[in-house]
Amino acid sequence: MVKIKVAKTAGFCFGVDRAVKLVYNEIKKGGKSATLGPIIHNNQVVNDLQKKGIRIIEDISELAFDEKVIIRSHGVGKSIYNEIEQGGKIYIDATCPFVSRIHKIVSEKTQEGHIILIAGDSEHPEVVGIIGHGEKNCMVFNDSDELKEIFLKNPDFLEKKVAIVAQTTYNIILWEECLKALPENNSNIIIYDTICNATSCRQEEAIELSKNSDIMIIVGGKHSSNTIKLYNICKENCNRTYHIENSDELYALNLMDAKRIGITAGASTPAYIIKEVQTKMTEILNNFEDDINFEEALAQSFKKIHTGERVKAYVVSVNNSEAIVDVGTKHTGYVPLSELTDDPTKTPSDILNVGEEVELIVTKINDQEGIVTLSKKKVDERLGFEKIIKAKEENTVVDGIVQNVVKGGVLASHKGVRVFIPASQTGVGRNTKLDTLLKQKVEFTIIEVNEQRRRAVGSISAVLKAQREEAKAKFWESAEIDKVYKGEVKSITNYGVFVDLGGVDGMIHISELSWGRIKHPSDVVNMGDMLEVFIKELDKDANRVSLGYKKTEDNPWEKFKAQFNVGDIVKANIVSITPFGAFAQIIEGVDGLIHISQIANRRVDDINEILSIGQEVDVKILEIDTDKKRISISMRALLEDEEDEETSGEIVEEKAMDEEVIEEETTETDITEE
Ligand code: F3S
Repeated sequence: MVKIKVAKTAGFCFGVDRAVKLVYNEIKKGGKSATLGPIIHNNQVVNDLQKKGIRIIEDISELAFDEKVIIRSHGVGKSIYNEIEQGGKIYIDATCPFVSRIHKIVSEKTQEGHIILIAGDSEHPEVVGIIGHGEKNCMVFNDSDELKEIFLKNPDFLEKKVAIVAQTTYNIILWEECLKALPENNSNIIIYDTICNATSCRQEEAIELSKNSDIMIIVGGKHSSNTIKLYNICKENCNRTYHIENSDELYALNLMDAKRIGITAGASTPAYIIKEVQTKMTEILNNFEDDINFEEALAQSFKKIHTGERVKAYVVSVNNSEAIVDVGTKHTGYVPLSELTDDPTKTPSDILNVGEEVELIVTKINDQEGIVTLSKKKVDERLGFEKIIKAKEENTVVDGIVQNVVKGGVLASHKGVRVFIPASQTGVGRNTKLDTLLKQKVEFTIIEVNEQRRRAVGSISAVLKAQREEAKAKFWESAEIDKVYKGEVKSITNYGVFVDLGGVDGMIHISELSWGRIKHPSDVVNMGDMLEVFIKELDKDANRVSLGYKKTEDNPWEKFKAQFNVGDIVKANIVSITPFGAFAQIIEGVDGLIHISQIANRRVDDINEILSIGQEVDVKILEIDTDKKRISISMRALLEDEEDEETSGEIVEEKAMDEEVIEEETTETDITEE
């Protein structure tokens, strides 16, 4: 039975896949576009694109006035960008981000005065593009011998600053040799290993595969530099290494006497061509009794990563709807925005940066298209759940946003993990709807975790209780008689109100609420009112605090004392009638008693016949006892005063009349004597 193994890294690399997709995308949009050189070194793909209207141009001057230019993954030098911009043309930049990184290094190091040495093929478009960012400051070497020669011919380089980069597809074995050939311990030389991970992985796998194969098939364009390198690498280990462009070329090969066949492909070889090679090979090898299920072999070979696997990836680019990542296989990794975050206000660039390493979970693999879909949210959820478990173990407080009200409670999200908080643990009163918590940030402890089902239960009440205990301890540390607090009215009873002092509730007795008479505390305060109170009494053991609310300066008795004296005549309002007399308000908060005997200057049997509630009467103050808070007032005293006045008036009149009579009599006597 012939064993066939397909390299896991065979086929499109990320950069090529991206470039090809960008071109097909332009076709979909419908505008006119041309690629600056063939988009990849693969005739089938290039022919297909040409059939769909994509022209290939070699120079920007060939662009039609209404045509966009697509820069391929190899990239171009600065001068080309300038030419495009000066010509007012639009370009689509499909330069592979890994190549762009080299452009950046070369440009920056040139600015800093480094000489740039590039490992690669000086005629390869990628190297030509790199040179175009180095301001004529670059030299290219093909191998270690050429590198040594550069230093021999330019001994002053040993004293100068030198930066070394490599073409992304440079041979990794040659690169190792070049590094060994460099002058030793020269701190002026900076080495940037810019060989693309996809390339090095592909080459390393090709070395291993070719060592263990009787026949090696390398699939890829005849002009593809990386495919040629793969061929050369494999040829070193396997004599029967063949470079083919498509499945038709298999017929020309003798495959029959091989026991192990290895297949790999260049970075610009589409998956469908590899599949065609597989299928055709199946047909050819069908003559063998022990047929091989090549489809399965292909599928198996592509499964370097698995759905559900946690992988590390590098962020290659981000746009408004997704992040593109390099997962270290031939697949292109996509992380849709919906798998980055739940936060609708965030975009991928708020969450990930290009070049950053990120942990992701594989949610879908499409080997046919070479695409893998990944999720950051799922990693966050796992990490979040680990934190939840830790929070439970350590009884620490976590926070989260309440996302939903569900049957029996609410769901709060903590770092992507949804935590159920039962209604009884929300700290929300029975008469308040749980909706009040929606979208609110809440703090809670974890009271239950089910690791298998990834469920967690939280408690806001526990946090509130702990906060109250802390506040209570703080209160008792500093509480003292007469200390003033501001607090909210939490409840109102018939005998007083309870005020939250922060951890401890204090009570204002009804008698302390007002200097005047009140029927119920709600006559003075309402629920939720903020009151300024002071401590009247403290009992820490019983956790009891009595509060005062009414102020001395508002004491009506003080006001009364300052204003009135015994003997004053005042107006008063009858406020209550009892069998022994009537109470009348003199000023607010101060009532005087008109004893039944002081209501009239005659015997009174029924007070109600003379007085009624609300009636205003004139009274005389007979007695003031501020200690006992008693004032005696009298209506009768005023009546008697009036009588006295009347009586004294009559006496004066009689006296006057008497004097008049005497005078008359005297006058008559005088006349007689005369
Ligand atoms: Fe880019 Fe590496 Fe491919 S540099 S184009 S991903 S081989």
